[in-house]
Formats: sequence, C-alpha cells, structure tokens
Amino acid sequence: MTGIRRIDEIIQINADRLSVALDNHMRSTFMPDARKELRKFTSAEAAEFLAIDAARLRKFHFDGKIPEVEMDGRGRRMYSAESLIEIRRALETTSRKSGQFFPGRTATEKLQIIAVANYKGGSSKTTTAIHLAQRLALRGYRVLAVDIDPQASMTSMFGYSPETEFRDGGTVYDAIRYDEPMPMRDVVRQTYFPNLDLAAAGLILAEFEHETPRALNEGKEPRFFQRLGLAIDQVQADYDVVVIDCPPQLGFLTMSAMIAATTVLITVIPSMLDIASMNQFLAMTASLLEVVSRHGASLEYDHLKFLITRFEPSDGPQAQMAGFLRALFTDQVMTNTFLKSTAISDAGLTQQTLYEVDKSEFNRNTYDRALESINNVVGEMEGLLRESWGRP
Ligand SMILES: Nc1ncnc2c1ncn2[C@@H]1O[C@H](COP(=O)(O)OP(=O)(O)OP(=O)(O)O)[C@@H](O)[C@H]1O
Ligand SMILES: [Mg+2]
Repeated sequence: MTGIRRIDEIIQINADRLSVALDNHMRSTFMPDARKELRKFTSAEAAEFLAIDAARLRKFHFDGKIPEVEMDGRGRRMYSAESLIEIRRALETTSRKSGQFFPGRTATEKLQIIAVANYKGGSSKTTTAIHLAQRLALRGYRVLAVDIDPQASMTSMFGYSPETEFRDGGTVYDAIRYDEPMPMRDVVRQTYFPNLDLAAAGLILAEFEHETPRALNEGKEPRFFQRLGLAIDQVQADYDVVVIDCPPQLGFLTMSAMIAATTVLITVIPSMLDIASMNQFLAMTASLLEVVSRHGASLEYDHLKFLITRFEPSDGPQAQMAGFLRALFTDQVMTNTFLKSTAISDAGLTQQTLYEVDKSEFNRNTYDRALESINNVVGEMEGLLRESWGRP
C-alpha cells in the first residue's frame, strides 16, 4: 500500500478491500448460499401472529382444520412463515368475519404508504422501518419495503451486499431516474419473508439528488416529487402497505417519500440535541413542501406521527424530554415508544431483526421487553392503518 500518493487511489483500494471483506462476511454468516433464510416460529409465536390463542391453534390442528406443520426433535410444532399463510387461508374459510385472517385492505381501501424520516442520523429510522415491515408481513399484510437511502442499510439487512450486487442496476433508482426509467415491477424483488417484497437501495441513488436540479431546470416531467409515488403506483395492486426508509438528509429523495406518503413517521431520540435538530428538520421540511406544493405536489396525508426511539425510561433527562415532546405535540406522539435495548443492537450486529434472531441466544427478559416494545409500536400503527381505511 506504500508509495501511493493520491488520495483517490488509496480510497478506491480501501473501498475495494472493504467490499470484498463485507461480501465474505455475509457469506460466512449466512452460508451456504449467502442468502438469508427465515427461521421457524414456535406455536406461541405463530398464535400471536395469527391473533388467536395458542390453545385454539392446537385445537384447529387436532380437528384437522388447518394444515399440519413440521415438528422439531422434541415434538413441538414449528411454523414457517409460508405455513402461516396456508393456515391463514384455511382459517379464513372457516371464519364468519371476512378478512379476519387477511387484515389487508379491500378493493375500495387505499394503499397506505408510511415514510420513516428524520434528518438526524442514527435515530432508528431503518431499525423501525424494517421491524414495521416484517411484523406487518407476519401479521398477514402484503408489504413492500422501499429503501431510498443510498447507504442502503435496510437493503443490507435483507441480506444483500448493495456494493457488489447492484453494480449494474437493480435498485429503486432505476425506477425513478430521469433517463429511461424502468418499470417498478422490474426492480421489486421477493425476500425470504413471504408477503414482504423489497425495492432495494444502492449508492447510485445519490445520483437522484445530483440530477434533480438539472431536471427541474429543463422542466423534465414527471417532477422529482412525483417520481417515487408514480413508481409505487405501478405496483400498488400487489400491496396493502408500503414502508419507505429515508436517508438522514432532507434532500429530494426524502421529500419525494414524504409527498408519496399517507403517513409520515418521524423517529426521534428524546435528547436535547436530537430534538433541537428535529426542530430544524421540521422548519426546513415545511418550507420546502410549501414550495413544491406551488409546483403542483399534492400534500394530502392521513397521519403525521412522532415515535420516541431508543428510549430509556429510567434515564431522568430522557424521560423529561419525552414528556416535553408529549406536552408539545400531544396525540401526534405515538403512545408506545421504541425502547433502547441490547437485544436490538446485538441483533443488528448480524444484520438481523428481533423476528429473525435465534431467541435462545438472548437473555429472555431483555429479548421479551424489546419485542413487546416494538410489537406495541407496530400494533399502534396497525390501528392507524385501520383508521385510514375507515374501519372501526
Ligand atoms: N431501540 C434500539 N435499541 C438499541 N439499539 C438500537 C435501537 N434502534 C436502533 N439501534 C441501533 O442504532 C444504530 C442506528 O440505528 P438505525 O440504523 O436504525 O438508525 P437510522 O436512523 O436508520 O440511521 P441513519 O440515519 O444512518 O440511516 C444501529 O446500530 C441499530 O442497531
Ligand atoms: Mg437508516
């Protein structure tokens, strides 16, 4: 490595080495085919996803009303996410209430698009977005996760190596770029989670930020703020909910997600610095949105919510800041908080969520508390979806 005098050369060498090392790391973590696979769920977990109690689930098996599933070495039923969908189908035919086991939207209900945003880095945007997308999928909704962060953290969590796999395209950039955009259907890919598809991100998305000023000058249509929404429109029939993970910037990408969204979810760590930074974010967002609305952007939305993340209730100053937010923004602040937990950060180290990790490797209490916290957040979000769909 010695003897290299140019900064671009040494940075390029470092980038190449890191990219190979990351790829190898992925392969060794998720062997044999370098693709992630979803673990099986216990009957307690399965019953919870299906929103019935475990005894009832057992009874359905006993009565032969639902397909049988694999047993583990100790004779306990283990449910794959695919088998949960088959069970949903069987239960739906026996249910008196239509849609009880497929809670997604009906033909007259509108696609819900949730943009997770804030320009503060590290405020749990990606962690929130991916848990939200996965949990909604496990609960029986048809979900599309859209990663518009050039850092592509969410895409990596789905088991891709953006720096090597999308070198020749394949990200959501292809569907929103100004030069011959591709059909959105061609960039959406299935994941190892049934009911959950991904429009992946890559560094190339940063081009969108660079190209947009020129496209605006040239009067290119559709305008930047319409492009993501129009891309999502092309595949809307396939989904109930879209979850967009935004970059930690207030650029054209974040703006287009906010304009496409029916719900904007702003993740905020309850600390003085974070809240001060969010203040700037809100002020800038409002003035930029006002400008684009004069250029014809529709700014209709169903919900704007603040989610308190990485929350440590026992930390006095944090609890105080959380109280401050609630006093100020009242019911715009989600009732449930996303607790700070080593279960989340440890799972994150291997690019996994709480739904993916092998629970036995975690302290039971720590895991359960973190899971309860995020499940409650998603549960509250499900309530908002139902509200948007005008259901009781
Ligand atoms: N509730 C939590 N408890 C503990 N660690 C968390 C929690 N939420 C997120 N983290 C960790 O904090 C780090 C940043 O989280 P995350 O990537 O979700 O933030 P982000 O807002 O998407 O960041 P960026 O602005 O870079 O996109 C990650 O390492 C993640 O594992
Ligand atoms: Mg992120």
